[in-house]
Amino acid sequence: MTSARPFSVVVAIDFGTTSSGYAFSFTQDPETIHMMRRWEGGDPGVANQKSPTCLLLTPELRFHSFGFAARDSYHDLDPEEARHWLYFDKFKMKIHSISDLTMETELEAVSGRRVRAIEVFAHALRFFREHALKEVKDQSSSVLQENEVRWVITVPAVWRQPAKQFMREAAYLAGLVSPESPDQLLIALEPEAASIYCRKLRMHQVIDLSARPIANGTDVDGSRLFDSGDRYMVVDCGGGTVDLTVHQIEQPQGTLKELYKASGGPYGAVGVDLAFEAMLCHIFGADFIESFKAKRPAAWVDLSIAFEARKRTAAPGRANAINISLPFSFIDFYKRHCGQSVETALRRSNMNIVKWSSQGMLRLTPEAMNELFQPTINNICGAITLDLPEAPVGTPATERREIRATMQFGDTEIKVTAVDVATNRSVRAAIDFLSN
Ligand SMILES: Nc1ncnc2c1ncn2[C@@H]1O[C@H](COP(=O)(O)OP(=O)(O)OP(=O)(O)O)[C@@H](O)[C@H]1O
Ligand SMILES: [Mg+2]
Repeated sequence: MTSARPFSVVVAIDFGTTSSGYAFSFTQDPETIHMMRRWEGGDPGVANQKSPTCLLLTPELRFHSFGFAARDSYHDLDPEEARHWLYFDKFKMKIHSISDLTMETELEAVSGRRVRAIEVFAHALRFFREHALKEVKDQSSSVLQENEVRWVITVPAVWRQPAKQFMREAAYLAGLVSPESPDQLLIALEPEAASIYCRKLRMHQVIDLSARPIANGTDVDGSRLFDSGDRYMVVDCGGGTVDLTVHQIEQPQGTLKELYKASGGPYGAVGVDLAFEAMLCHIFGADFIESFKAKRPAAWVDLSIAFEARKRTAAPGRANAINISLPFSFIDFYKRHCGQSVETALRRSNMNIVKWSSQGMLRLTPEAMNELFQPTINNICGAITLDLPEAPVGTPATERREIRATMQFGDTEIKVTAVDVATNRSVRAAIDFLSN
């Protein structure tokens, strides 16, 4: 899209499922990217450049706070009072899952109160608008008119047109741009933005999937930039979605050609958090977890922060258990609510992979962590389906059949061919990334 208006700054907002942020650059010096200034603290054990995507509205539906401030203020509310406030987190995922999304679609806050989804998004965008403009003005030597700012909002590649239009309308409502100048706002796809970032990297900053030799852990031509003809794959594993894109830099203009694209549905890392919650429901009962969330919101937030920090230390080869400290109010509330100790609940649940430590911690064995990650990982991994004919007569049922599968990375697709080694017959094979 082109515009006659001379934009002097471009501000891009990355509206994430779990965390969000923005960056900007002046059109006179587009290569200098200014990342969002951190204006508030972070969580113990969790490094973050972005702010949590959390919004708090007052009982009168007015904006109260966003990010850590929203979460901490909600946290500090008296539980009785909290029932009247509206707290939203991880709300971006709902936009993808609602099939008949309209400007009237409502979102439910943790307290159960409802408000139009577009208002929730507009509040968040307005917050970013104010912060970004303030920062841009601080960095700018001349007086900046608001119509000199071009805004970009990134959205997941899986979002369909109504969801993209929804984001645009939310931006109008937030006053980012006026509906009369729609070209002042670009809705960009997250994997494309990620890809443009990656092509600016140096070769040694990417993992080389080709068979070229690696010297001392770095690519032999470690300092070179991406060049015409180079192909690279970007896998953006977010909180809500996973996108996989293969791009090639075209000659001679240096533009990007898309060779392959697979867009993930809701297969992001939030799936691991949901699996943890399901595990707690299994051990302590879904009723208890529901009422704990409603009655002790601060403690629930603490537990989520504790899990987030430990989740990031999990790794496939890890041999020792991970400790998650249960807030005192969890232990206490469980005792009052269910008349038994959490230790007894754990024992009765027969969950051998989760243990109780006398220091008030849940000990998740490597098997337990594995179980939490596996459903999400299974969704991300590609699957090859083989259409196997009956085994030749006389083959014992227990014998393994050797099938040789070859993958070919072509210009616009990944092809897989498979051959049954015993009979030398080809087998029908289909490949599927991120869409099962
Ligand atoms: N080291 C790690 N190990 C496991 N999970 C991690 C790690 N680091 C971050 N995560 C998870 O990644 C998610 C955040 O990723 P990111 O900030 O890219 O998502 P997002 O931009 O908010 O989501 P999306 O782009 O899907 O809307 C969180 O769920 C977080 O728990
Ligand atoms: Mg993201």
